[in-house]
Amino acid sequence: MTKITVLYGTETGNSELLAMDICKAGEDAGLECTNFGMDEIDSAEFSDIENLLIVCSTWGDGEQPDNAIDLWDHVEELGDDELQNMKFAVLALGDTAFDLFCEAGKEWDRILEEKGGTRIYDRIDCDVDYEDEAEEWIEGVIATFN
Ligand SMILES: Cc1cc2nc3c(=O)[nH]c(=O)nc-3n(C[C@H](O)[C@H](O)[C@H](O)COP(=O)(O)O)c2cc1C
Repeated sequence: MTKITVLYGTETGNSELLAMDICKAGEDAGLECTNFGMDEIDSAEFSDIENLLIVCSTWGDGEQPDNAIDLWDHVEELGDDELQNMKFAVLALGDTAFDLFCEAGKEWDRILEEKGGTRIYDRIDCDVDYEDEAEEWIEGVIATFN
């Protein structure tokens, strides 16, 4: 069975709720899906993830949410081909009222490719009313595993 790991970076829980929606959709499609906060996984095991979906909000002035910072620092230190076996896609949450809209999610999308990962579905950058477009993205990304 295809295994999917969903990691969420969040401060106030929106990304966590979407990560749960992704797992529900994945399981409904017959996939094995688990979700974790970015600070809940052992960073040494990050490079072993084969199918990774990231949901990440942006905080401060274009910064990573608190629970994403340590993992981000770890991934920045990886070698350029270390994620060769990883397929990934990113859902970024933000607010267009900020200059650096969805910057943290954009950074994840960039770095996973830079470290050798393969993007399997285009990133979506979601504004505050994200429910409908997030749902559409989830449907689309889950369908790529079938
Ligand atoms: C203090 C504060 C700073 C924020 N900074 C940004 C930002 O720089 N860029 C952006 O796109 N969104 C920014 N946001 C919006 C959040 O990313 C957005 O509300 C998101 O849905 C929060 O998701 P979460 O609950 O998973 O953390 C900010 C929100 C707050 C309250």
